[in-house]
Amino acid sequence: MTTGIAELSGRSLLTLNQVTAEEITDLLNLADNLKERKRSGVRGELLQHRSIALLFQKASTRTRCAAIAAATDESGHAEYLSSADIHIGKKESVADTARVLGRMFDGILFRGYAQTTVEMLAQHAGVPVWNGLTDEAHPTQALADLQTIRENIGALAGTKVVYIGNGKNNVANSIMLGCAKTGVEYVCCSPADLSPVPELVTAAASVAADHKGSVEVVEDPAAAVIGANVIYTDVWLSMGEEGSLEERIATLMPYQVTMDLMKKTGKLESGDVIFLHCLPAFHDRHTVLSAERGALEVTDEVFEAPFSKVFDLCENKLHTLKAVMVATLT
Ligand code: CP
Ligand code: NVA
Repeated sequence: MTTGIAELSGRSLLTLNQVTAEEITDLLNLADNLKERKRSGVRGELLQHRSIALLFQKASTRTRCAAIAAATDESGHAEYLSSADIHIGKKESVADTARVLGRMFDGILFRGYAQTTVEMLAQHAGVPVWNGLTDEAHPTQALADLQTIRENIGALAGTKVVYIGNGKNNVANSIMLGCAKTGVEYVCCSPADLSPVPELVTAAASVAADHKGSVEVVEDPAAAVIGANVIYTDVWLSMGEEGSLEERIATLMPYQVTMDLMKKTGKLESGDVIFLHCLPAFHDRHTVLSAERGALEVTDEVFEAPFSKVFDLCENKLHTLKAVMVATLT
């Protein structure tokens, strides 16, 4: 199996701005190969003797577990370091922590708040640093999103992806840029005060124009979804985000992904549309939050439908994160 992506060796991934369209395609191809490799039963040595620090300031199920499984599958090792366990931010600066971890580990996966923290880590660690989610960006998620869209729809270029909900969060920012770089017809559908930062939209639209794609920001869900191949949503209030959940629910309830909205794509019967969510999702009454209120950003009917590929997406976090590790550490 070809694993090397020479131009990515030794590099960090803090946002998708740092990778070209060709490098994204290379990473997705590698992720497809690694997926096939794992499914055929191979447990290899592509990360042998590589140790990876998982420096997490926020909770995680998928990203943390994907990193651990990715390292284990290829004979590497991942060590979870929550910010409650180590000195970062209390007795030791980010820069000093980076210099310590960089002397001991081959790569660092960071999850936290400020984008400047992950930038500071990358500046001082001397080893690749990967952004496993900040307030601004979730680039490793976007790679899994793109892999899942490509394998279900068959292509990225020319596919219509509609993101619905809080258009200015980390997941929305990264999928917008990932789609722009891969020729997708991307639509962000949010109320005006939750639409993406205009500078990011302008930049993404310019990137999209170079790759025969498009970026559009709209407010009306019923019109936005017509012809969509992918309906994507995320939680309405992100980890660490200030603000009232009650207000957010009131603002975003018209943006809930329902079966009625899915039908408006016009593609349910032909099977040419999928539903995606990065997860975790408030789709039923089985969480503390949704026990009282019921479904929020997506109904249970949509979440559990055959066209919902949320757990394919979840699995692809493993393959894409492994691709990033293999490409940058070998
Ligand atoms: N999608 C995602 O990043 O999930 P976790 O918060 O569980 O890592
Ligand atoms: N926008 C969400 C994504 C979780 C994976 C959050 O930051 O909480």
